[in-house]
Amino acid sequence: MNNKIEILKDKIQKAHLGGGQARIDSQHQKGKLTARERIHFLLDEGSFEEIGMLVTHRSTDFGMENEKYLGDGVITGYGTVNGRLTYVFSQDFTVFGGSLSETHAEKICKIMDMAMKNGAPIIGLNDSGGARIQEGVVSLGGYADIFYRNVQASGVIPQLSAIMGPCAGGAVYSPAITDFILMVENTSYMFVTGPNVVKTVTHEEVSSEELGGASTHATKSGVTHFACANEIEAINHLKKILSYVPQNCEDPAPFTPYEPSDEERTALNDILPSNANQPYDIREVIAQVADEESFLEVHAAYAENMVVGFARLAGRSIGVVANQPAYLAGVLDNNASVKAARFVRFCDCFNIPLLVFEDVPGFLPGTDQEWNGIITNGAKLLYAFSEATVPRITVITRKAYGGAYDVMNSKHIGADMNYAWPSAEIAVMGAKGAAEIIFKKEISAAENPEEKWLEKEKLYSDIFANPYRAAERGFVDEVIEPSKTREKLIKAFKMLENKVVKMPRKKHGNIPL
Ligand code: HXC
Repeated sequence: MNNKIEILKDKIQKAHLGGGQARIDSQHQKGKLTARERIHFLLDEGSFEEIGMLVTHRSTDFGMENEKYLGDGVITGYGTVNGRLTYVFSQDFTVFGGSLSETHAEKICKIMDMAMKNGAPIIGLNDSGGARIQEGVVSLGGYADIFYRNVQASGVIPQLSAIMGPCAGGAVYSPAITDFILMVENTSYMFVTGPNVVKTVTHEEVSSEELGGASTHATKSGVTHFACANEIEAINHLKKILSYVPQNCEDPAPFTPYEPSDEERTALNDILPSNANQPYDIREVIAQVADEESFLEVHAAYAENMVVGFARLAGRSIGVVANQPAYLAGVLDNNASVKAARFVRFCDCFNIPLLVFEDVPGFLPGTDQEWNGIITNGAKLLYAFSEATVPRITVITRKAYGGAYDVMNSKHIGADMNYAWPSAEIAVMGAKGAAEIIFKKEISAAENPEEKWLEKEKLYSDIFANPYRAAERGFVDEVIEPSKTREKLIKAFKMLENKVVKMPRKKHGNIPL
């Protein structure tokens, strides 16, 4: 037996070395951790249980039968994050550049299946040169097996992807289907085709960083939800996201112990500028309303006119969706609509109640917006809110104009409670534009058209630039002092805790993609 145990120990040691010390050193020289080090930092100390450590590839072309590494370039298994079961796969760049072989794919599929059966999140730590070129179609098949499982798991268990190195070709599509992507500045890339192919096909000269680095995807494409300064920051973000989400779609959103204190936040009464056309940072409102230091912004550098993220209210996880008056006046445009729609759908999948702060002058007009599909994209947000069955509350802080009033979680599309601050303005459009249209003849016939216009603007404003018309109709449930917002929301979310909505029977809806 002793001899046999020695053989086992030798194999384990070999597996731990991946593609060998020289390649591990090269990984470190690039400022990257190894696949095993990443798992070590992610999971609770000593909790990792590896599955499939001794798997090797089955390829025989190009002399591959003589080049095998135990584990075949991906470490898979389970452990705990802050005591909660989590499945993980971590690609090992030291073995064939972390490329995906048939068996590498089988290992990932195996733990995805386990995560589904046992209802726990799965985290992918991606560092891969894409399909294992020596294997041809079986590698492509392996990718498709993973994509299929990503889709089956979507909305059932949370799926998170951290991009820790190159992610080329097929390697980008599995992360793209998962719920959240995190990238690391300067060491991770995502693209369908790299700079060389780009140069050949389109004659563009572009660096990897510019084409598909973390900043590019965090600001321009919106592909990544987080751009992290280094791998440790990315791993800490993964843990933080998990702290807000349930284990699966059957579980309620997490609740952390909470000591009630004075819920009145008087600072909220002074956040809005006296001039309704001046900006303020909606994050200040969120910070005042949510539990202290609890807001985790998602997609912070993309479509900044919309702020989305997780927070806690009296210890309960909530999803926050807010117009940002400090950026483009908080207008709704293509990118903001899609960003918010995706976040709303995530929260709804995983029983995370939604809190909306509304201050929106309307949809952004213009050819750029129209030609890029603001009709379809705005409809995505309308659809996402309308189909969401989690508790949904809106607070109108200032402007709620036009179609944006309807879209931003209005009562009419199923919001449970709608509050407005006394500063709210709820109308078809701003008073100046409205007066120009409905009093056009009177203004042009007037001796002093400018004066007449101002008079009519004031008239429209007196009637609609307040929350009371909406409150008279019950479209707003209560007009509240800003300082009372937190206590009102805590009570209302508690009241909605056991909300049940039965949707009409259907296979699935057809969101305007
Ligand atoms: C097999 C690969 C590999 C691959 C890298 N390696 N990519 N082996 N299949 N796809 C190996 C290299 O031979 C090398 O082996 C080691 O990994 C490290 O690679 P380097 O090139 O030395 O590293 P680096 O300079 O850091 O460049 C990393 C890289 C580059 C950017 C990822 O290797 C690269 O461009 N690889 C090919 C990317 C690609 O085109 N993949 C196919 C995409 S198509 P040694 O022995 O020297 O350590 C695809 C289709 C799927 O994925 C479609 C599904 C929808």
